Amino acid sequence: MRQITVILVYIVGMAFADVKSAFEATEIVPDALDNAPLKKMEVKYGGRAMNIGDDFTPTETKDIPEIHYEYESGCFYTLIKIDLDPPSRRTPKFREFQHWIVGNIPEDRISEGEVFSEYVGAAPPHDAGAHRYVFLVYKQPGKLNFNEKHLGDDRLDGRANFSAKKFAVKYQLGEPIAGNMYQAVWDDYVPIFYKHLGVSPSETFSETGIN
Ligand SMILES: *[C@@H]1O[C@H](CO)[C@@H](O)[C@H](O)[C@H]1NC(C)=O
Repeated sequence: MRQITVILVYIVGMAFADVKSAFEATEIVPDALDNAPLKKMEVKYGGRAMNIGDDFTPTETKDIPEIHYEYESGCFYTLIKIDLDPPSRRTPKFREFQHWIVGNIPEDRISEGEVFSEYVGAAPPHDAGAHRYVFLVYKQPGKLNFNEKHLGDDRLDGRANFSAKKFAVKYQLGEPIAGNMYQAVWDDYVPIFYKHLGVSPSETFSETGIN
């Protein structure tokens, strides 16, 4: 029995170390966070489960993924997805770029939360190298009155120069309880995405630095 406990503690410890080391290896800590979340959030795009740091294409990430995390019954959560590298990881002058922000999520029922920034997928510029896209979930102290603009998925202004860290401080969310991340480079879905917005990428890069 004691041996089993020791093994279990070891396995759980490894799982925590995994998220921490992955967030440090990809430099999300310190680029966006002071501390890595303890747990991995389950993220699935079209049935493909994400391991922290996986490569996904803009085509694969264009639709809202399926998400699960460990929650406490009756509690509310905030979900944040950000791009750390607009317009490029080397010169991320518009860091962070909001991709998806949902507050007052009952447990892990994302679709019942309040959407502030509607979901957009990865759309890194051509030749900009890989961008890092990070999912974070925070446990709220209760149901909150958010004072945030609603940003539709048909426009990108208002999304640049965001800070998940400052947002968490503003609403007293503490540290994220779970996270995940993927990287993506340009593919031929990116121009289709910009066409849908009715802007050319170069226009957008110069104004808001879309990712
Ligand atoms: C974002 O910050 C950069 C400087 O870091 C600034 O040049 C740019 O105007 C800001 N963009 C917005 C939309 O606030």
